[in-house]
Amino acid sequence: MSTLYPGKVGDEFIFTRGHIHAVSDRPEIYVRQSGRGVMLMELEDGTVRAEPMTPNSVVYVAPHWIHRSVNVGAEPLITLFCYPADAGQDYAIIERAGGIRDLIVDDGTGGWKQVPNPRYRFRSTATGATE
Ligand SMILES: [Fe+2]
Repeated sequence: MSTLYPGKVGDEFIFTRGHIHAVSDRPEIYVRQSGRGVMLMELEDGTVRAEPMTPNSVVYVAPHWIHRSVNVGAEPLITLFCYPADAGQDYAIIERAGGIRDLIVDDGTGGWKQVPNPRYRFRSTATGATE
């Protein structure tokens, strides 16, 4: 279980540090317990998906996807998650690229929107290095 408290830095909603599984073909599921959230996911080639975490839904993080939770509400976002015990976590993959390609920000009408991350540096799939 995880509790992510609400908040923003500027217009950007608070998020977890995020990671890719060290054994990257290991998947994960997230089940939202309460709050309003988005699962922000990215492949190493920069493909991004943002999946709302809605009541009674399960978000599936497929193998090889970098993932982080974002609290887009005013209440704590509580999630339950399950993954294979040997998955491990690599947090540096996000740090090396200056974050995930997109940010989740306040849309000014009580919702959220996905915008390009100006600090993002393309991540080479061959070496894990950035350009
Ligand atoms: Fe994970």
